[in-house]
This record gives sequence, structure tokens and C-alpha cells, in this order.
Amino acid sequence: MTSFIRNFLTEVQRIPDHRIFGRVVGVQGLLIEIGGIQTTLSVGDRVNVVARGERRVPCEVVGFRGGRALVMPFGTLDGIGLGCLAELERATPSIYPHPSWLGRVINAMGEPVDGLGPLLQGPDAFPIQAAPPSAHARQRVAGKLDLGIRAMNSFTTCCQGQRMGIFAGSGVGKSSVMSMMARYSSADIIILGLIGERGREAREFIEDDLGEEGMKRSIVIVATSDEAPLVRRQAAYMTMAVSEFFRDRGANVLCLMDSVTRFAMAQREISLSAGEPPASKGYTPTVFAELPKLLERAGPGPVGKGNITGLFTVLVEGDDHNEPISDAVRGILDGHIVLDRTIGERGRYPAINILRSVSRTMPGCNTPEQNALIRTARRIISTYEDMSELIRLGAYKAGSNAEVDQAIELYPRIEAFLTQGKTEPTDLDTSYALLAEAIHFDGGIPRPGTPGVAPPAAPPRPAVKPAVRGPAKPAAPVRPAAKGAKK
Ligand SMILES: Nc1ncnc2c1ncn2[C@@H]1O[C@H](COP(=O)(O)OP(=O)(O)OP(=O)(O)O)[C@@H](O)[C@H]1O
Ligand SMILES: [Mg+2]
Repeated sequence: MTSFIRNFLTEVQRIPDHRIFGRVVGVQGLLIEIGGIQTTLSVGDRVNVVARGERRVPCEVVGFRGGRALVMPFGTLDGIGLGCLAELERATPSIYPHPSWLGRVINAMGEPVDGLGPLLQGPDAFPIQAAPPSAHARQRVAGKLDLGIRAMNSFTTCCQGQRMGIFAGSGVGKSSVMSMMARYSSADIIILGLIGERGREAREFIEDDLGEEGMKRSIVIVATSDEAPLVRRQAAYMTMAVSEFFRDRGANVLCLMDSVTRFAMAQREISLSAGEPPASKGYTPTVFAELPKLLERAGPGPVGKGNITGLFTVLVEGDDHNEPISDAVRGILDGHIVLDRTIGERGRYPAINILRSVSRTMPGCNTPEQNALIRTARRIISTYEDMSELIRLGAYKAGSNAEVDQAIELYPRIEAFLTQGKTEPTDLDTSYALLAEAIHFDGGIPRPGTPGVAPPAAPPRPAVKPAVRGPAKPAAPVRPAAKGAKK
């Protein structure tokens, strides 16, 4: 009750004793020009423009030109014309999250969009655009987080509070990897931001991928591609603000964002409209300043709080992994998982390119045995891939190099290990056990079925028929080539 009264008083104090109005003096493209209060406004302020028919359109100040404030709307410009009233909103845009939001789907403004009634408001305000915790107040990344995907659990192990990027061109399986993590990870709470993606996918994700069970520990924030750029950008901020609420309650939060590229594109639209000159591929300097501000909000929380493990997808335009957004995001995060179109095309999903993927916290969180296992498996993959052309052409003669012979034998088994259907979760210990079994590694890794490790039933056991789901596989020609060489 006392907290109720305290909140009530805080709300009363937040009511301004006077209001500040300006007028719409111009509309150009997506921008509205406001006159009269330009000296009171600053970039980032909120203004409510009253359109015809008393419709209030929330807007944000994005710049100034010719003595007028330039604002962008969070909705459509319909009904906005010269002379419309523009009222300054002085409160910092905040949300009041509550644990009962779990299981709900909300939009970028924090309103429910699932038709399940209004959201209960919590006692504390969480600013939508908060600053990340200061570096020295932060805890260190904690123990491992089970992501349920065996290729990632073993080769790019993620720690609690780590931030990783999933990089891929369009249609290579980013959203599918996201949905597997949302369903199978061991995190307490999952906050999922679907930023600027297709409307169809949001519904499929919620109903098919998360399902009723997954939704119980999740909150989904949705802004589809057709929404205004400010809305898409704010959906990303909202995802972080909701994650921060649960982090501050001590939870181990998994924040999944699909995709950061759409956030960057939204910021690019905003900046270009405001007249900022582009720097790289049309992206403005503000985009590169906003990315770290957003991504740094994930990570270990302040001492005594929980943490936010962040997994962010990055759409790599034209499969060019050095395009500016991929480059910038890769530099900010603590690891990257690269999905490769050619791997997907030969039927191995998730199409993770092991040799190009890195988790910067991994060697430190593994046991020496696990590190030895991963080193051995990586060496086998790298040996095979170095020689794959020769092997495919039949130019490699079996027996000429013991290491290559071993790679030829074991590579298909590793590919089988890396292949994982969307409905087959694999926990951490089982991931190591299956990999150890696949490459005949006996360096102290418990095998499937031993205490603490799930029986090998769930995922298909690494079989020698593996990687060869389609026609153009690297593994298929291996055997004939080796045999031919013996003759
Ligand atoms: N684990 C999997 N098993 C089988 N098929 C998969 C798997 N993961 C992805 N795919 C295939 O890849 C296709 C594209 O996946 P997805 O929609 O996740 O890609 P995306 O990278 O998110 O695409 P976009 O860039 O268009 O958003 C899926 O329709 C599916 O056919
Ligand atoms: Mg997708």
C-alpha cells in the first residue's frame, strides 16, 4: 500500500504546472517543422502534435533548421497541417514494467498488442533510452549459458552476460537460430525484440516457435517493417529497457534481437531525413554512435543485480561480411557467429561456419579438457577444409598424410554433429559428449549416457552418413576419392 501511495505521489509530482505549446509551420517529407518553441526544445525531446480530429501524434525532435525545430512522428502524418498545436512533453519517456508482462506481446510504445487486455504497471520507471551501467560498476561475465544448439554450446560457448552477434545474408537461418535459442536456452527470462522484420514472422514466431510453454518466460516486443522509423528504433530501446527491469530484479535475462541491422536502417532513415550527411553506404555517423549505446546496455549487470546475455542478428547485405554495419557490430560485441549460405545450401542447418565464428570469452570458461576437445575438432575441420578441393578432385592420395586421412574419416561425423533440426534441443554437457564421441576424443569428456549427460537419444547420433543431405556435399566425394587413390 505504501508503495502504491509513493507511486501515486510520484505521478502527481510529474504533472506539469504549466504547458508549453508551439505550432506546426511546415511539413516536408517525413518531417514536421515546429515554430514558436524552438528555443525550449532540444534534440530527443518529445512533442505531441494534435492532428485534425484531436488525434495526438507523438513526435521526437531530430534537429533544427532555419530557426525551426524538426520533429518526426511515431505514426502517420495524416491530419497534420499548418497551425496544428504541438505540445512539449517534459517527462523522460519511460516504462513501468511489471513481472506480469511475461507471456505478453507489446509494441514499441509499451502497449499490449496481443488482445489480452491492459498491462499492469509496476512501481518503478525505466527510461526507454537508458545509459549502460558504468564499466567499473559491472560484474564480470558469469558461468556458461546453455543455448540448446550444440554447435554453439561447444564451439562458441556463450557466458551469462556475454553479447554475441549472429551474422548472415538474407535467408540463411538467422531467425531460425533465434527461435531455437528462445525455446531451448536455460535463461530465466527471454526478452525478444522483433525489429523491423516481416509481420507474418512475428505471429509464426510467437505461435509456432515459442509456443505456450516458451511464452511463459518471454516478453516479445514487435515493430514490423511497415512502421515509422522512430517506432522501429524505439522497439530496440524498449527491448533493452524491459530486459533491464528483469536484470535489476536479479534475473539471468536472455535478450534476443532480430535484427540490429533494421535498427541501424531506422536510425539511418531518421538521420538522413534530418539532413545529416551520410558517411558509409548511406549510413550516417549517428548510426555508428547509436549502435554501441544500444548494444552496451546488454552485458553483465551492476554488482548485486542479474545480467543480460545479448544475442543480436545482423543481416549482412550482399553476403559481404565487411559491410559497415557488420563491421561496426562485430567490433562492439564479445563474439560472432557466422552463418554461411554455402553450408545452408548443402543442407546443413544451423549453417554455422565454425572456423569463422568466435566467442571471446570461451577459452576462459572451459575446462582444459573441453578446450582440448574444441581445439582438436577445429583442427580436423580446418585440415579438411584446406584440402577439400584436392579431395573432391580426387587429387589427394590416401595415406600420404595421417592428419588428412584422419580429417577425411572424421569430418563427416563432425558435420553430422553440427546438423541439428529445429525441434532437437541439446544441452551443454551432451553437446561436448556428442562431439567427443564423434571425433573419438578420449581426453576426459564424459560420453552420452554417463551421469550428468543426457542419453544420446534426443539428437541423431553422429553417423557416417551426415553432411550429405543434398547432392553437392563435400563429404560425398571423399570416400570414392580415397578409394580411387588406393587402387
Ligand atoms: N535448423 C534448420 N533446419 C532446417 N531448415 C532450416 C533450419 N534453419 C533454417 N532453415 C531454412 O532456412 C530458411 C531461412 O531461415 P530464416 O528465415 O531463419 O532465415 P533468415 O536469415 O532469418 O532470413 P531473413 O534474412 O530473410 O530474415 C528457412 O525457411 C528454412 O528453410
Ligand atoms: Mg529473419
